[in-house]
Amino acid sequence: MWLTTITVGLVTLILIKWLNDYVKRWRMPPGPFFWPIIGNLSLFSGRMYLTFIDLAKTYGDVFSLKLGMTDVVVLNSLDAVKEAFMKKGADFAGRPKMLSMDISSEGGKDIVFTDYNPTWKLHRKLFHGAIRGYASGQNLQSKVHESLKDTIAEFTKMEGQGVNLDDYLYQLVYNVICSAAFGVRYNMDEENFKTLMKVSKDAAERFGQGFLADVYPLLRFLPSPTVTACRKMMDQILGIMQCHLEQHKETFDPSNLRDITDHMIKAQKDAEEEGIQDINSLTDTHLRQTISDIFFGGTFSSIFSLRWALLYLAVHPEIQEKVAAELDSVVGRDRLPELSDREATPYMEATMHEVMRMASMDPLSLPHATTVDTTLRGYQIPKGTMVMPNLWALHHDPDTWGDPDVFRPERFLDENGKPVKPAALMPFSAGRRACPGETLGKANNFLLLGGLVQNFRFSISKGEGPPDLTPDEKGGGASCIPSPYKVVMTCRK
Ligand code: HEM
Repeated sequence: MWLTTITVGLVTLILIKWLNDYVKRWRMPPGPFFWPIIGNLSLFSGRMYLTFIDLAKTYGDVFSLKLGMTDVVVLNSLDAVKEAFMKKGADFAGRPKMLSMDISSEGGKDIVFTDYNPTWKLHRKLFHGAIRGYASGQNLQSKVHESLKDTIAEFTKMEGQGVNLDDYLYQLVYNVICSAAFGVRYNMDEENFKTLMKVSKDAAERFGQGFLADVYPLLRFLPSPTVTACRKMMDQILGIMQCHLEQHKETFDPSNLRDITDHMIKAQKDAEEEGIQDINSLTDTHLRQTISDIFFGGTFSSIFSLRWALLYLAVHPEIQEKVAAELDSVVGRDRLPELSDREATPYMEATMHEVMRMASMDPLSLPHATTVDTTLRGYQIPKGTMVMPNLWALHHDPDTWGDPDVFRPERFLDENGKPVKPAALMPFSAGRRACPGETLGKANNFLLLGGLVQNFRFSISKGEGPPDLTPDEKGGGASCIPSPYKVVMTCRK
């Protein structure tokens, strides 16, 4: 009897909540029918950015979905993203609360996954200072050149063979970012390098798929092998960051700051000495989290950009030869490309824009959340609604680009060959949460890709058949990473 009463009570509560959600939906952007409890869960799987483009044809460029019981608003056009993230920046600058984000940020103590609050502001400011000091201009250039020289020597030994360059690109990029972050460079066979690369790859894959407990928070209290595995991976990675932090503290000299880790320690010590409130936002956990954001943000983005760029250039040899010819005429063969060459190499710049557009590595950016009850296009969006900008849709809109599925760098050049950048190209997102690593990311990609193409011709292995340009399933819907491929390198010198 009591079992029946409980069941009837529960079903009634679920139905009331469902009806209530439907009433609320009348004032929100339109969207498809959703079920009690599961909502539109099936729409959030696979390449969901493509599903969202289809849904926009029926419901318009701003529509609502239910991720389980959470309201989600999808922004499917440039106008919608501009209105939300630029005109109403602060209203849309939050982050949703999810178990996966909580685990990787140790409870929101980083920049990426923390909500829009003073701690986030402080760490973004520190981030910019750290990048300016240790990973920009001449400083960045010399780190890239040093790493490139080793990689060029390695690649030369493999001339003519079909090689998957993945691990070599990891080493190349790690040596730039890790030397800026904590003054470390790695050899391919070093244990620390292998561990960091393996755990980072596994973590990106596992976290990219998301957890069921992200959708149903109560499940976080039940045991889950995926969650346990992810916690273990994060412990390993953060353990490495903490180790660097402690070693730096032992040898810290305020008159000789060596890298980003020293920069962060200095901020902590200044706050301690001046007794300012920031001290609670500058614990060792916050410090290792910001260092870890720089490590992950700086490495994955560059590795995946390079992998996409080399793939597109191998598939389009005529474009690769144009890039190489431009580098030849501006840089020559006696030195590596420098940041001062960027202005004189518009075709290279246009090619990098086209890679970013075609690949759309973060097709749905990162999820935002509304910080207050707000409105968009006259619809009401309650506080705490998850907001997903569909950057893939912006980058592949036929009305904007004409032939979005064609790899054509010329679309980023005007009739005089000068660079143009349409507003709809937004790989770094926009507004208050826009990627703070944009300047570093672009400079790094220019120097790395420029150095590689200046020295080698990359072609598809003869026996391999046409390479797969669709993103690897492992990225889930959250990131577009290239499927594994092999290239043959031929020295240009
Ligand atoms: C090709 C290069 C890169 C691309 C395409 C890229 C893309 C993005 C995107 C789409 C976001 C989400 C923005 C949003 O929430 O709307 C983001 C955030 C972020 N990126 Fe990047 N990124 C790149 C390079 C970098 C680099 C080099 C770093 C650091 C060294 C970095 C650090 C971050 C951080 C810390 C955030 C979080 C910002 C916040 O939540 O306030 N990124 N990035």
